[in-house]
Amino acid sequence: MSKSRNVHIKSFGCQMNAYDSHRMADTLASAGFTETASPDDADLVILNTCHIREKAVEKVYSEIGRMRELKEAAARNGRHMMIAVAGCVAQAEGKEIILRARAVDLVVGSQNYHRLPQMIARAQNGGSIVDTEFPIEDKFEILAAPTRDAIAKRGISAFVTVQEGCDKFCTFCVVPYTRGSEVSRPVEKIVTEVERLTEAGVREVTLIGQNVNAYHGLGRDGRPATLGKLLRRLAQVRGILRLRYTTSHPRDVDNDLVAAHAEVPAVMPYVHLPVQSGSDRILTAMKRQHTRRDYLNVIARLRTGRADLALTSDFIVGFPGETEADFRDTLALIDEVGFAGAFSFVYSARPGTPAAEMDDQVPREEKSERLQRLQAVVTRHQRNFNAGFAGRTVDVLLEKPGRLLGQLVGRSPYLQAVQVMAPHEMMGSIEGVTITEVGSNSLFGILETPEPVLATAGA
Ligand code: SAH
Ligand code: SF4
Ligand code: F3S
Repeated sequence: MSKSRNVHIKSFGCQMNAYDSHRMADTLASAGFTETASPDDADLVILNTCHIREKAVEKVYSEIGRMRELKEAAARNGRHMMIAVAGCVAQAEGKEIILRARAVDLVVGSQNYHRLPQMIARAQNGGSIVDTEFPIEDKFEILAAPTRDAIAKRGISAFVTVQEGCDKFCTFCVVPYTRGSEVSRPVEKIVTEVERLTEAGVREVTLIGQNVNAYHGLGRDGRPATLGKLLRRLAQVRGILRLRYTTSHPRDVDNDLVAAHAEVPAVMPYVHLPVQSGSDRILTAMKRQHTRRDYLNVIARLRTGRADLALTSDFIVGFPGETEADFRDTLALIDEVGFAGAFSFVYSARPGTPAAEMDDQVPREEKSERLQRLQAVVTRHQRNFNAGFAGRTVDVLLEKPGRLLGQLVGRSPYLQAVQVMAPHEMMGSIEGVTITEVGSNSLFGILETPEPVLATAGA
């Protein structure tokens, strides 16, 4: 019997990587690995990487450099440490990574995590291993399920991948290349996974997919189900209090989804709906497959079902050919919708994508100047949105200990962080919280005073 080994997993990028990291940890746990919070005592370090922007990739290489130093130090003490690169950089660059960074032992693409135990066993004998093919078998079927302990440690709010990959090929984006084409998991497999999570204490599940609302997994009736139908089914799982999903594409908001927001109380009134730009000219060049008007119509439809729906978005500034007028169209769109928040990025040319080859790349200074202006507008709207909550009582799902002793932090239905003094036992329950103060990143409140309990006669 070999002794137990330690694995340290570091995740970059989106929530799907965070979910994949958990699934890798679960699978390696059944192969005798214990997860460790620090790379210092790890026998295996996995960097789960992101390829979305240039900076993300550079971060990975500098992290590999740091891990190489740890590996060399371990070797001086007679200990063998392995470095694995997983995720979207692994998928995109494959063996290039080993050519550029010789300390790397394993490169495992985003669809091959179920093969990790075998790859590790092979790499043990020296030599490096690369596996970035898109396999025919379904990794979700082979990856180990988490133990009760592992679920409990990860908290009451969990992610579950329901859809992976993308067939849209926006001209700036690497995701269709790093995650492959769109695949949806069958409804019943997702239900089983969610039941397992709730049995171990999870109360909120966020369904994730690069194009989550294009979900079309096999339903029980043998026909493809929509995301709306999936949400309805999951709302029936015992223990589920809240359901969320991300990331949606404006093209794929169908009536089932609108109805789920209107009719299923567990579906939270919040949608992250990236638009990228408010200019039709740029939307066409990005190949987003919708106009500014289409986007506004989608929002209007969603709001017919849930008038209080909060919206957030992603924006790219400085896409090739973006003029000052195009950029102003984006600012005007933000004013028109009044987002509750947004992520914004300067356009980053990604090798192999059509936009990287376009003329009229916007100079760096102009891009960062536009980013600042856009962020100022978004911040103004975010502040307005939050300010509207002062004095109101909102339902907060209490998630974990807060910043101060005796404090818990949770989320409002609209995904705002709320800090409140509350007993530890309230973790995992929804409580009414009256907002007393609005900060820049979170709200502060007090528990709504409970109704006095009347003594019952004759008790
Ligand atoms: N599937 C989602 C987005 C996935 S990537 C969607 O369709 O909207 C997350 C965000 O990263 C994108 O919304 C976009 O705003 C940003 N992004 C993607 N590629 C980028 C690039 N080349 N440069 C800058 N930002 C980019
Ligand atoms: Fe990328 Fe999203 Fe466009 Fe797909 S829909 S190519 S993931 S930005
Ligand atoms: Fe990054 Fe891959 Fe997610 S490129 S954003 S980790 S899908």
